[in-house]
Amino acid sequence: PHAGAWQGRRVLVTAGPTFEDVDPVRFIGNRSSGKMGFAVAQAAAEQGAEVVLVAGPVVLATPPGVRRVDVRSAAQMREAVMANLDGVDTFIAAAAVADYRPMQASAQKIKKGEGPLQLALERTDDILAQVAAHPRRPARVIGFAAETERLDEYATRKLRDKNLDAVAANDVSAAGLGFESEDNALALFTPDGRSDIGPASKAEVARILLQRIHALGTTAA
Ligand code: PMT
Repeated sequence: PHAGAWQGRRVLVTAGPTFEDVDPVRFIGNRSSGKMGFAVAQAAAEQGAEVVLVAGPVVLATPPGVRRVDVRSAAQMREAVMANLDGVDTFIAAAAVADYRPMQASAQKIKKGEGPLQLALERTDDILAQVAAHPRRPARVIGFAAETERLDEYATRKLRDKNLDAVAANDVSAAGLGFESEDNALALFTPDGRSDIGPASKAEVARILLQRIHALGTTAA
C-alpha cells in the first residue's frame, strides 16, 4: 500500500485523443499521445489514490496500480466516464476529446471521385461539462485547455462557463511542449487566479499539479 496525500481518494482521469471513424479505414483524430494524462494518473496512484484512467487510443503502458479502461471515440469515452463516476472525488480531464464527429460513419470504404469530398460533422457531447453539471458531481472537477492564442481569456472563460474548480492550460503552439512531447508547462487557473507549473517533464508537472489540486479550497479565501 502507498502512503500519501491522496490516500483514500478516488480519482478519475481521461487521457489521449479520441478517434472518430469516417469509414472502416479512416478516422478523424488529433495529436494527443496520452502522456500528460497518464502522468497525472501515475502521480495520483503514487500518492495513494484509487485511480481509474479512461484512455483513448494510445500506445502507452498502464501505470502501476491504475485501473485502465480503453476507448476509441468521444461517445465511448463519455460512457466509460459516466460508468465510473460513482464515489469519485476528483475528475481530471486531460484527454483531447474530438469536438466533432462525422454525422454518419460509412459502412464501406469511401471511394474517391473527381471533385472535392464534403464530410458533414456534428458536435460530440462535452464530457467535462456534463461531469461538472452531474447530480453526482465530484467535489473537484479539473479541465485542461489546449490553446494556441489568448490562453488567459479562454481558460478563465472555461473555468466559469463549465463550472470547474481549475483549468490547466497549455499553450500548444510552444515548441517542445504540449502535444506528444516529453515536457509540458501549464498555467493553472482557479477562482483565486493564475499559477504556473514548469516547464518540466510531464511526470514532474503532474506531481505539482496534483499538489495544487489537493490544496484547492483548503486555503483561506
Ligand atoms: O497527450 P499529450 O500528447 O501528452 O498532450 C497533452 C495535451 C496537450 C493533450 C493535454 O495537456 C491537454 O491540454 N488536454 C486537453 C486538450 C483539449 O482537448 O483541450 P480543449 O480545450 O479542446 O478541451 C477543454 C477541456 O474539455 C479538456 O479538459 C477536455 O478533456 C474536455 N473536453 C473537450 C471536449 C469534449 N467533447 N469533452 C471534454 O471532456
